[in-house]
Amino acid sequence: MPIVHTQQLTKIYRSGFVKRKEVAALKDVSISVERGEIFGLLGPNGAGKTTFVKILLSIVFPTKGQAEIFGQKLGALEIREKSGYLPENHRYPSFLTGLQTLQLFGQLHGLNGSVLNDKAKSLLELVGLKDWGKVKIKRYSKGMLQRLGLAQALMNDPEILFLDEPTDGVDPVGRKEIRDLLKDLRAKGTTIFLNSHMLSEVEAISDRVAILNKGEVLKIGTVADITSTKLEYEIQLDQIASGQLCEKIRPLVRELKGNEKTLIVAVHDKNDIHTVQDLIRQEGIFVESMSPRKSSLEDYFIQLIQSGEGK
Ligand SMILES: Nc1ncnc2c1ncn2[C@@H]1O[C@H](COP(=O)(O)OP(=O)(O)O)[C@@H](O)[C@H]1O
Ligand SMILES: [Mg+2]
Repeated sequence: MPIVHTQQLTKIYRSGFVKRKEVAALKDVSISVERGEIFGLLGPNGAGKTTFVKILLSIVFPTKGQAEIFGQKLGALEIREKSGYLPENHRYPSFLTGLQTLQLFGQLHGLNGSVLNDKAKSLLELVGLKDWGKVKIKRYSKGMLQRLGLAQALMNDPEILFLDEPTDGVDPVGRKEIRDLLKDLRAKGTTIFLNSHMLSEVEAISDRVAILNKGEVLKIGTVADITSTKLEYEIQLDQIASGQLCEKIRPLVRELKGNEKTLIVAVHDKNDIHTVQDLIRQEGIFVESMSPRKSSLEDYFIQLIQSGEGK
């Protein structure tokens, strides 16, 4: 049974008293997250990622559709108890120390006394802030604040962790530290739901991703599934491709790039690559090698968003 299961979740925000404005933030979003995986929800700003997580945690109510977490309907107390949440752009009172911040959140989860203290201290250590516990958080860097936020989200030993843009504003070293931490948590069995507009981040750690644009899921799959569907091939020739050959190939393919002895050809269908090879041979040119090129998820994502804009 998936740990998170949504069916046609839809959210329409209505705002403005005089002129009622409607924003469809989510349209029929159906997603399942399996236990123990890192699931990345990717999309540009305004795609609906934050709204999706807020609905799962009953901070925002859906207009339509259904969702279950741990087999429980939205709003069940068990969901809050077993979930950790790092909100987007979170702010803690800057006069508190890191340790006090965690103690405050621990108390909200019903912890107290030595259990609370030990938990807060061990989490500070886990996120690499052991020596910063007694320092006021106004002196923390953005990366340190995000790591503190992660510790906060772990105070109740959650089975699933919802992270909304956890690496936003964090420098590359800090981002790597956060990624490593998430991998450690996955190894311990925690399920992680990660919202991000930073594709390279998600690509590096997610088991599966969903791409969300303007409230709609455009694609769901493993990173490998999504990156290997572009049908782009690199062809090495034994001599420089003539302009005449390129003119013959161009009308048959989606895209033709490359220089001199290397052609990069994007085809519509895998079989079209045979036609391209035939044309090359007809010119008396020998194909030395041909290999499929995997585009990064980022390339694929940009392509999807651009093609979606023309709709
Ligand atoms: N409280 C709200 N009232 C009205 N519109 C909102 C509200 N929250 C978000 N929106 C709109 O819903 C859309 C999705 O927003 P959001 O879920 O924050 O996307 P993301 O997290 O992917 O950037 C955006 O167009 C945003 O302006
Ligand atoms: Mg957001």
